[in-house]
Amino acid sequence: MKKAVIILALLLVCACVKMNNPNPNETIKLPKPVLKSDVSVEEALKNRRSVREYKNKPLSLKDISQILWACQGITGDGKRTAPSAGALYALEIYIAAGEANELDKGVYHYLPESHSLEKIKDRDIRKELGTAAYGQEWVSQAPASLVITGIYKRITQKYRARGKQYTHLEAGHAAQNVYLQAYSLNIGTVFVGAFTDSRVQQILGVPKDHVPFAIMPLGYK
Ligand SMILES: Cc1cc2nc3c(=O)[nH]c(=O)nc-3n(C[C@H](O)[C@H](O)[C@H](O)COP(=O)(O)O)c2cc1C
Repeated sequence: MKKAVIILALLLVCACVKMNNPNPNETIKLPKPVLKSDVSVEEALKNRRSVREYKNKPLSLKDISQILWACQGITGDGKRTAPSAGALYALEIYIAAGEANELDKGVYHYLPESHSLEKIKDRDIRKELGTAAYGQEWVSQAPASLVITGIYKRITQKYRARGKQYTHLEAGHAAQNVYLQAYSLNIGTVFVGAFTDSRVQQILGVPKDHVPFAIMPLGYK
């Protein structure tokens, strides 16, 4: 009888965990990044601007894939699109998806090695993210937002105190890649740096050592 109660309790706990996170390990293979464009690097540099208004149109998975690749994709020898001090790669990238084709509303973690997304949350967090960013409506209204986080200890282990600066610089490189790639896809974005770190961590559901540096809303212009 006691055994049956314990088994029942365990089953109940499992059901509750599943309800909160229905597909904890669901991974989505992203389309292969495209390496050719009609927009030159020079044009993108010249015309890139921060954009805070977006069309009410879902983002395609192909474009989300391309943006993630530009931000932190693997380009050869395990190295990435953005430079990193000592090639230690301190950044972890997340996507808060709201209106995206072939991507359910939720939070996803980008896995550069397999160029795929791992679902970590199963609901639309865009409004909460906007509130955490002091009500910047481009965050709550964009079809999706990319969030750049960094883990200091990956770099400070080698470079001590300077590692913190290096992590910030790495985030800046990745963000500029997003700006340039977004421009070439006719997607608007803006580097949003004003938000409460702990709220963003909580809303995304990421560990405390993943320090958020930027929320970059994404939407067609
Ligand atoms: C570190 C940093 C933080 C920023 N934070 C915000 C922000 O919280 N909200 C916002 O709308 N724009 C933010 N921006 C974007 C700037 O306002 C924008 O880059 C600046 O006005 C220049 O315009 P441009 O990007 O179109 O050239 C930030 C930019 C940087 C580099």
